[in-house]
Amino acid sequence: MKIPSVLKNLIDDIFLLYINISNSFYNFFWFIVEIIKFYKNPKLRKIDIELFKIYSIRDQFTIANEYKENNQNLDDLTYGEATWYSIDKAIKFIKIENCRNFLELGCGIGRISFFMNIKYNLNSIGVDLIPEFINNANKIIDKFNLKNIKFINENWFNINFSFADIVFIAATCLDNKTLKLLKEKFDNELKSNSYILSVSFPFETKKIKKITTLNLPFSWGRADLYILKKL
Ligand SMILES: C[S@@+](CC[C@H](N)C(=O)[O-])C[C@H]1O[C@@H](n2cnc3c(N)ncnc32)[C@H](O)[C@@H]1O
Repeated sequence: MKIPSVLKNLIDDIFLLYINISNSFYNFFWFIVEIIKFYKNPKLRKIDIELFKIYSIRDQFTIANEYKENNQNLDDLTYGEATWYSIDKAIKFIKIENCRNFLELGCGIGRISFFMNIKYNLNSIGVDLIPEFINNANKIIDKFNLKNIKFINENWFNINFSFADIVFIAATCLDNKTLKLLKEKFDNELKSNSYILSVSFPFETKKIKKITTLNLPFSWGRADLYILKKL
């Protein structure tokens, strides 16, 4: 039996609505978990509220989409966010006491870089192509007089990774060419005993070994987070 196109469109719309509503509930649930777990820290709470204020006017997904449309629709610019909860779980598997410098490749609004600076007292550097994210994050640094954290508006291929003890990258939407180039860069530049936390892609090489894989929540759903170590 052939389904009339009006009915087919209606089914598609209902399905999309269902996905949107369930995703909102999912993200709301993890938001509550994070409030309970991390808002005891007044600095983290203040920064998160400031991020909410800034992005309630023009949200981060709209900003990233607009930038993507004006820049040859690069797939690498697809936006999504890691949760503090997931990063905090991953940190338990690394020797954080030996780490000083945290590098976030594609930091978006900077929420993870702020977290690593405040919760783990690391020197944080967030790098992103989208100027609006970097300007807003730098305003937060000034407003709260934060130390040992900076945000740079740059392509990560123009940054040398050798200072980093921990690199975090959400690699879910990166294309094969970008993944290959990043793998080479990690292999050549990262120092011995540094860590890579990578969402969705294991950057394993002869010199980079996987410690473990965790399945954790992100803004788009659950994904594998690979924890790797440079030999
Ligand atoms: C999936 S979002 C991740 C945001 C953040 N790391 C998080 O997990 O919450 C990826 C970010 O990487 C940035 N990005 C993509 N390619 C980049 C490149 N070559 N150099 C710098 N930033 C890049 C995008 O602008 C986007 O903000």
